[in-house]
Amino acid sequence: MEFIKVTEQYQPGIALIQLNRPKELNALNKQLMEEVRDALQVFDKNDQVRVIIITGNEQAFAAGADIKQMADKSAIDMLLIDQFSTWDQIRKTKKPIIAAVSGFALGGGCEFAMTCDMIIASESAKFGQPEIKIGTIPGAGGTQRLTKAVGKAKAMELILTGRFLSAEEAHFYGLVNKVVPVEMYLHEAVELAKEIARMSPVAVQLAKEAINRSFETQLDEGLAFERKNFYMTFASEDQKEGMKAFVEKRKPEFKGR
Ligand code: CAA
Repeated sequence: MEFIKVTEQYQPGIALIQLNRPKELNALNKQLMEEVRDALQVFDKNDQVRVIIITGNEQAFAAGADIKQMADKSAIDMLLIDQFSTWDQIRKTKKPIIAAVSGFALGGGCEFAMTCDMIIASESAKFGQPEIKIGTIPGAGGTQRLTKAVGKAKAMELILTGRFLSAEEAHFYGLVNKVVPVEMYLHEAVELAKEIARMSPVAVQLAKEAINRSFETQLDEGLAFERKNFYMTFASEDQKEGMKAFVEKRKPEFKGR
């Protein structure tokens, strides 16, 4: 594993996956997500694991999909690379997953946290879907999951402006389960995991499946729609300009083409 650290028994019954690209603020490249998928599939088959925690570091859970990896791609490249099929496999994990989030959870990072089942946030956590600022839109579920979590008006504001949500606001809007001081966020996630780990694993799995079913049919359709529109932005000059500007550390000039 190059981009994640995995501990099978972080505490009895609790596995930990730590995203580990600190210099890039844990930007989610294709390989990192494949490593997460592989670790989750192993844990799902391991009876000794009851609950999985995914975390980053104090500064960043993840600052989004890897812009440098995507910047030059065409819409058809994106379609063929099909990076989100890995995300589809991740969301099929049967065991409960808790995201322990500190610092930035932006773009794909916010979407990844929302793909988990519960979120424990540190006071420093910042959530957001800033893709609009680089000429694209969320592509890994943001338009669907954020809208379900915080409601239409707030989701519109966040996705159309790229503004960030503080941990307290995220809690107010129901995006996260609990906000705790920075030094406590992993501990708090472990406490929640321990409580769940004491329950029947069969009942936990069936409950998770049933809760997800409450919106999964619409979610499948919504994700497919979002993905096509996300790819479509890669046919625009604005996406090329937006991502190029990020890499070159300057403000983009959007032309509406
Ligand atoms: N992709 C690739 N590299 C990234 C990155 C990303 N999403 N986010 C940060 N980095 C890199 C930076 O390029 C920088 O690398 P260098 O040192 O080599 O220049 C390093 O991480 C540190 O970042 P900054 O210097 O920018 O740190 P900062 O503290 O000044 O700013 C930040 C932090 C506000 C999070 C800023 O890095 C930022 O805006 N990041 C991009 C956020 C974003 O737009 N995310 C959405 C990505 S698109 C997406 O996710 C699509 C989807 O839905 C799947």
